[in-house]
Amino acid sequence: MKLAKDRREKAKSRTKIKIAGIENVQFMDVSTSMNQYKLPSQEKKPEYVRKNFDGIAKAYDRFNDWNSFFLHRIWKDWVVKEAKRSVPHAKSALDLCCGTGDITYRLSLDPDLETVVGLDFSEQMLSYAFPKVEGQPVKLIVGDAMNLKKFPEGSFDIVTMGFGLRNVSDLRLCLQEIKRVLKKEGVFVNLDVGRVRPRFLKFFADFYFFKIVPLFGYLLYGKQNEMFDYLPHSSKTYPDQETLQTILIEVGFKEVWFRNFVFGNAVAHVAKKGN
Ligand SMILES: C[S@@+](CC[C@H](N)C(=O)[O-])C[C@H]1O[C@@H](n2cnc3c(N)ncnc32)[C@H](O)[C@@H]1O
Repeated sequence: MKLAKDRREKAKSRTKIKIAGIENVQFMDVSTSMNQYKLPSQEKKPEYVRKNFDGIAKAYDRFNDWNSFFLHRIWKDWVVKEAKRSVPHAKSALDLCCGTGDITYRLSLDPDLETVVGLDFSEQMLSYAFPKVEGQPVKLIVGDAMNLKKFPEGSFDIVTMGFGLRNVSDLRLCLQEIKRVLKKEGVFVNLDVGRVRPRFLKFFADFYFFKIVPLFGYLLYGKQNEMFDYLPHSSKTYPDQETLQTILIEVGFKEVWFRNFVFGNAVAHVAKKGN
């Protein structure tokens, strides 16, 4: 316990960027018939998201295991395997919105990858990533996925993102940044929520997401936590799998395709940067 705490403290002291405090969060109403909740406005979203991920970091991994019946581990394995399959000679990888480092850790196990960077703006989430990648040649950085200026154009063979794109304030701008930091013929693999198509399954999926998932938050944290309302509601403003595929093509990616997991509850998009 103490060791893990020390590591997290050390991790904090190694962080590179401080992000401003949280004030005056404005909200947008996306209440559904299942649940009443207001999402923060686009302008206030980054502070809101960062603050709230800081708040839930300590049980985030357990929450993921519970709400996906451990399946997120298989999906994340798939992301890394597919990224490597797409760029077999890849030497560098960036895991954006890396959170507690699940995908970063999986990337770090690849002996061919000489550079692996995990980036997230929540220091608390990152503090749980440090112990996972300890001893591996991985750099964990506090930073904003919307602003990757610290990386020159064409820095990485692989960019991955797990359940992060839904949270950024401007999806297209973020995708443009990702394309910029990718090398020619590099690959972007994005894992996030999708839309469940069969009608009868959609009802159960919504019920699970809007009614059961917030209960997990209650069980894990001992009180109601609005983050567990934010998570399902944020999927309502996130494009469905076909729309995201179109956006990726519009932004300039090529060979864009996606793979549904569990009837589209989760979906991974694979997109390559052209010449
Ligand atoms: C749902 S968690 C996913 C964590 C991890 N990728 C996973 O799959 O388990 C989303 C993460 O995105 C981070 N995040 C959201 N917006 C971000 C941004 N603009 N820049 C950096 N990190 C961001 C949050 O801090 C949080 O750790």
